[in-house]
Amino acid sequence: MIQPGRFITFEGIDGAGKSTQIAASIDWVRAHGHEVVQSREPGGTALGEKLRALLLHESMHLETEALLMFAARREHLAEIIEPALARGAWVVCDRFSDATFAYQSGGRGLAEAKFRALEDWVHPDLQPDLTFLFDLPPAIAAQRLASGREQADRFEREQRDFFERVRNAYLQRARSSNGRIAVIDSARDPQAICADVLECLEQRFS
Ligand SMILES: Nc1ncnc2c1ncn2[C@@H]1O[C@H](COP(=O)(O)OP(=O)(O)OP(=O)(O)O)[C@@H](O)[C@H]1O
Ligand SMILES: [Mg+2]
Repeated sequence: MIQPGRFITFEGIDGAGKSTQIAASIDWVRAHGHEVVQSREPGGTALGEKLRALLLHESMHLETEALLMFAARREHLAEIIEPALARGAWVVCDRFSDATFAYQSGGRGLAEAKFRALEDWVHPDLQPDLTFLFDLPPAIAAQRLASGREQADRFEREQRDFFERVRNAYLQRARSSNGRIAVIDSARDPQAICADVLECLEQRFS
């Protein structure tokens, strides 16, 4: 019988260090003998990447943005995530529904109940097995992004108080996640953060 795969997600405000940290986790999963599928949201499929381009660069109504996030997610689940998990692969994904709760509810101020309804529609029976929340003050994240980016997208152009709200929504979600979301202090050097991530993987899955 195929052992069903595990679903691991990376979360945090823009510039928190998700992309920097993801490779070591992928190596860890591979070293433990599992197939790994790496993906990201919004995106992950051909249609999803088109929706990502719209979401990051076109202005739109707040609710259109929220609905497109879940539309892209529906496609991503059907095309990539569910088949991978079913065949026993592990899926490591840069952002998932926690990001929509944090950005579109916490950041944009849309009612959380709307997102619970969408989540219940799009993935009623699936949550990540483990989520890393890379947490750091928005001021530090902004400094990191300022030194590395050419052109900011719609979200990266938001003001500091937007990212404070997103950060607080993420932390609130972590507190009510029954341990699914591991909060990683990301205001440290990359090696220290990576050590925490790998230790957490060992604890949860070895
Ligand atoms: N621990 C760290 N200390 C200092 N700089 C870091 C650290 N981690 C990442 N960086 C740098 O900060 C910038 C943002 O990191 P990264 O791209 O990993 O963030 P991200 O969470 O993926 O951001 P985004 O949400 O915009 O994709 C990069 O230039 C990266 O090299
Ligand atoms: Mg990134």
